[in-house]
Order: sequence, then C-alpha cells, then structure tokens
Amino acid sequence: MNHFLDINATSANALREIIDHAHTMKQARAGQPKGMLDADQPLANHMVALIFEKPSTRTRVSFDVGVRQMGGQTMVLSGADMQLGHGETIADTARVLSRYVDLIMIRTFEEQTLLEMAEYATVPVINGLTNRTHPCQIMADVMTFEEHNGPIKGKKVVWCGDGNNVFASFAHAAEKFEFDLVFTGPEPLDPEPALNGLYRTVRNPDEAVQAADLVVADTWVSMHDPQSARERRHNQLRGYQVNDALMDKAKDDALFMHCLPAHRDEEATSSVMDGPHSVIFDEAENRLHAQKAIMRYCLGR
Ligand code: CP
Repeated sequence: MNHFLDINATSANALREIIDHAHTMKQARAGQPKGMLDADQPLANHMVALIFEKPSTRTRVSFDVGVRQMGGQTMVLSGADMQLGHGETIADTARVLSRYVDLIMIRTFEEQTLLEMAEYATVPVINGLTNRTHPCQIMADVMTFEEHNGPIKGKKVVWCGDGNNVFASFAHAAEKFEFDLVFTGPEPLDPEPALNGLYRTVRNPDEAVQAADLVVADTWVSMHDPQSARERRHNQLRGYQVNDALMDKAKDDALFMHCLPAHRDEEATSSVMDGPHSVIFDEAENRLHAQKAIMRYCLGR
C-alpha cells in the first residue's frame, strides 16, 4: 500500500512509472465512450471515498469517473456533512473510513489534516489539494507537457503570478523530473521558503519567459485566500498577466497551461487560453488518466 501525499514524498522512479502508465492507459481507451469500462478492472470490488472540504469540479469528476472506468465504486463526501466537520477527530475518521473503503482521496485545507488522515488510515490516502500543495494536478501537467512536446527533463517552465500551492507542487516536480523552474511574480507573493533551491526567481516577466518551453498561470486569489485580499492581489499581480505579448517571448512551440478554474482576462487573456499555445483542456482531461495511474500505484496494481 502506498499513499500519494506529495510529489516530494514519492520516489522519482514511482513518479515516472505513474506518468508512463497514465499515457498507456489513455492510449488504450482512445475514442471510447467515457463510461466504457477499461479492459482490465484493477478496482473491481473496491470502494473509494472522495472527501471534499472545498469546492471542486475537475478533481471530483475525474476521480469519480476514473474509479468507475477501473471497475470500482465511489462515495463523494462533503466534509461539512461529515462528523469530521463537527468535531470528530481526523484520526477516528481515518480509522472508521478504513473499515468501509479501500482508498481515500481528500481535498482539505490544512496539510496536517491530510498527514493525520494518512497516519491513521489503514488504506491508501491521496492528496486532492491542500493549502500547501496540489500534486495530482502537476502529475497531469507533466503528462500533458510530455504528450505534446516530449520529455520535460531539462525544459524551461515559467510560473507567472502567485507562489501558491500549485506552484509548490511544480517546485517538487522540478526536482523529481529535473526541469528548470522559473518563478516570476511580486516579492510579497513569493513561494514559501521551504521551496528555496527548487526554482529560480526572475522578477521581470518579459525576461522570465524568454525561451520558455512552458508558461503557466493560475488564479490570483486561491480558495484559501481571504476575499478581502482580492483588490490588493490584483494590484500586485496585474503586471504578471499572461497575454499574447508575453507568450510571444517564449519559444515558438511553447505551451500554455492553467489548472483551471480561471478568471478569464485576469491572470491570462482569453486570446492565450483559447490560442495556439494553450493545452488547458488536455490538462483537465489528463487529471483523469494521471489519477487512474496514481490510484493503481496506491493499490499496488
Ligand atoms: N484544478 C482543479 O483542481 O480543479 P477543481 O478545483 O475544479 O477540482
């Protein structure tokens, strides 16, 4: 049994196997209806709990569909409706759920909740996003890059904007997959110091994206940020919008990614999001394939 808690908590070999497996599984069901079962059924007779303490579209639907394609069953649980949201400890919740289900995916606020769930669960636990990281998203992003432009090793990836939880998983991935990660954003929104050494900072966005292989944007106000910070953040980040002029400075075959949901024409213009460099919907699709491979890894299949 393996947990999938973070990219930096998973070996480089395992990460590579997950990505390769995800490509193979995607190719195997190309052109099939989304509801068709996979040829093999590694999750047959398995029950998966999907716990959400925050909103979700992609994570919720892609995990649910992925489990079903592999022959398993799901229960989608809202944290607020569980006793977990009314004082029951995470440890007790983990031990109880482990008697009912074979795998737990949780989207939560504090990283400590995830770690405690993993400590007390006797079934694998997957990180579906915390305030600190979003590893499933970045596994899908690495898969998407390699699908379009080949191995990511040695490539230049430029993150524009807030040094948030999605960036943190990109930083972990930069070390494991050996790519060059550049952060361009305002100093007050720098990534957490624990990530130092995993990326370079170039304050000027025009300079940062020179010869980039991949340019990435994300929402300027994350789910865990107070809405009162919105105006200040917009003022801080306006100069880091990904628009056509900025994309023109990247390589001709550069890709543009955004994990979505987006605030169109804020962090990135619609002309970029819908333009020739954009692979945002392949990214969204690849959540499904990457997470199926992650679940197989967790269950040793
Ligand atoms: N990118 C992402 O995690 O999307 P959701 O919040 O819709 O799950």
